[in-house]
Order: sequence, then C-alpha cells, then structure tokens
Amino acid sequence: MAENMPEVIVESLASHAIAKAAQLVRTIVTDAVQQRKTCSIALAGGTTPHSLYKHLAGEAIRGEIPWSETDVFFGDERDVAHDDVASNYNMAQRTLLDYLPIPPDRIHPMPADAADLDAAAEEYEQLIRNRVPAGPGGLPCMDLILLGMGADGHTASLFPGTPEALNEGDKLILAHFVPVLGRSRMTFTFPLINAARNVLLFVLGQDKTETVAAALSGQAGARREIPAARIAPANGQFIVLLDGAAAQKLELPAE
Ligand code: 6PG
Repeated sequence: MAENMPEVIVESLASHAIAKAAQLVRTIVTDAVQQRKTCSIALAGGTTPHSLYKHLAGEAIRGEIPWSETDVFFGDERDVAHDDVASNYNMAQRTLLDYLPIPPDRIHPMPADAADLDAAAEEYEQLIRNRVPAGPGGLPCMDLILLGMGADGHTASLFPGTPEALNEGDKLILAHFVPVLGRSRMTFTFPLINAARNVLLFVLGQDKTETVAAALSGQAGARREIPAARIAPANGQFIVLLDGAAAQKLELPAE
C-alpha cells in the first residue's frame, strides 16, 4: 500500500466497525445511482463480511440503499457449487441478497466450479467488461470492491506464494490452483481491483493485528510478502476499515 496510502478508519468495537462499513456502502451505492443511474459492487467472502451483510439486510438500512439499480459481482469464489455452504455466493445470498430487491439478472455469481475454469474466468471477465463502464484507466471501474484479508495477507483469492496470480497484469479474472489450500479459486486480479472507484478493505480481529501493521507499514517488503499491500486504486478512494483489535499495532498519526 505504498504509493497512495489508504484512508485508515479504526472503530474500537467490531459492532461499530460493522455499522461504519454499512454507512460507507450506503453512501457509495447511493452516490453512484444518483450520479450515474447505476452501481456496480463486488462482494467479499469469508466470515468478516457475514456480519456486515446481515446488518445491510436489516430493516433499518436496507430501504435506504438503491439496491434495485445495482449489479452485484463477487471478488472471488471457491471451487464449489453455489448451493454449497462454503460458497461465497451462498453466504451472501443467505445473509443479504435474499433480502434485497435486486433483479436476479443483476446478481452475478462467479462460476468457480465450472468444468473449464479458464473459459469460465474469461466469460466472467467479459460479463464485467460488458456491464461495468470503463474508468479513466480504460478498465471496468466498479463503484465499490469490498475486500477482506486473511491472517497470511491474502485478499480476494490472491495468496502469498502465487506469483502468477499476484503479478497478472492483463487478465481481470483468473482461475488458479492455490497450493496452500490444495484447491482452485477464481478471483479478481489487481488490475481490476485497482481500477475501482472505491475499494473498502474491511478487517476485524486479533488474528489480523500483525498482518495489518505490516501491510500498512509502507515498507517495500510488504508489497512482496503481503498481497493486500498491493491494493492501490490508481484513480479511486481506498479505505481500510478496522476494529481496535486488528489495529492494535498500527502507529496512527495523532488526531
Ligand atoms: C474467501 C474470501 C477471502 C477472505 C479472507 C478473510 O473466499 O475466503 O474472499 O479473501 O476475505 O480469507 O476471511 P475472513 O473474513 O474469514 O477472515
């Protein structure tokens, strides 16, 4: 995260961080629809966003967001069927999408269990190129890409030790075998992530403390070792939203 350091927001309690994340999503989606009549977002998987999605699905806020004008994509997906409990799509469907007035043809699950993963990745990339208007850099410019981070510093399904995926400079969507998992994943690549109008890296919990501090250190080694340190939207806003536990080792400038 060297060149354009992100805006770092720390909310002491996880519940406050979740509420803040929901407010950011509401602002970004509302602004997009007001300014461009449409919005495109990419959801993250894993456990952290689970609580955010349930909050966004709640009565208090879901009616305030113009979801019916929004295209929903997925930043990565596991190599399982969409009805598998391990699927990121399945988790988002159960906690959020089933409660929102999004037309089914605007929800785009990632086909990470296809027989021909490379062809499926190309198809998903073409879908994004067709539906998401290009930004200043000429690539599809998503209004919001929500990302999480593993304790090993991976983000989306861009893992340490997968140089082909980490250094991919042309493809926007990549299917690749992840040795540490022993499974394949499909994922956004950094060219697509860094073309976004807004990237929100949402990280909670004690187990991420060391990696968050290293990723935000701005040291050259960080970009090499920690995939999340390569998030740097060239023409977009980059927000890192943390709870107190994840931010414990951060040296933040005094208010
Ligand atoms: C996935 C996610 C992944 C996730 C991190 C953090 O498919 O698991 O997309 O990139 O964001 O692994 O996961 P937790 O939120 O569960 O710590």
